Amino acid sequence: MEILPCKSRADAVALTAKLIGARLDATPEMVLGLATGRTMEEVYDHLATNGARFDRCTTFNLDEYVGLPPNHPQSYAAYMAGHLFDRVDIDRACTHLPDGMAADLGHAARDYEARIAAAGGIDLQLLGIGAAGHIGFNEPLSAFRSRTRDKILTPTTRDQNAGMFGGDAARVPKRALTMGVGTILEAGELILLACGAAKAEVVARAVEGPLTARVSASAIQLHPACKVILDPEAAAALEDIAYYRFVCANEEKWDPYRDHL
Ligand code: GLP
Repeated sequence: MEILPCKSRADAVALTAKLIGARLDATPEMVLGLATGRTMEEVYDHLATNGARFDRCTTFNLDEYVGLPPNHPQSYAAYMAGHLFDRVDIDRACTHLPDGMAADLGHAARDYEARIAAAGGIDLQLLGIGAAGHIGFNEPLSAFRSRTRDKILTPTTRDQNAGMFGGDAARVPKRALTMGVGTILEAGELILLACGAAKAEVVARAVEGPLTARVSASAIQLHPACKVILDPEAAAALEDIAYYRFVCANEEKWDPYRDHL
């Protein structure tokens, strides 16, 4: 795992977007795993504003609410259209989200796994982190070997996401279809971005805490190619921050990105 502590929230967002953009330039036909949430809105804005090319890539989103049709303004399908897909040159036939409207959610979940496999697997998976320590919607006690399936959302998560539902947690769907932790760990590379003081504690538990299904994000410690990009507030509770800064400062590969670090 590589921790990249950035100078500011804008720098953490810019670094994330630049690393994705660089991968798209190097391998335009890559399979990109996408995430949602307020943090990612800034990443997508940076990519769209800077003219990143998506014309040959395929995307898979981490999750979708159960019971919201793609044209529902709070669905993740609508989120992706508004924040990214409608703003870049992506072929919409190559974008995938789990089908939260499926009559048979088990079948939809297996179909999603099959689509990922048919695309050759995910090359780079973008991740945020929820207050409950989740990646995707892998709520506490999600098995590290779990696959795409529907999960009940914790009260913490419904409270956290209430902002997108007029501030009313009761309007946040009760369930979501999400890639499993095991699905996520099979991606070739992971980039987790976290910003803000509200994420500091859960980031420390994910990065430095014990591997535990209570914090599904701690599973990223098992991944051989995982970057964690943080703004100063989200990095504030890390015990070994001096060591992470030392490594980052001495790795020449980060020289092109020094402005942000
Ligand atoms: C939702 C998504 C997660 C994401 C989280 C973070 O819960 N399912 O994948 O990590 O939001 O949201 P935010 O960036 O708004 O803090």
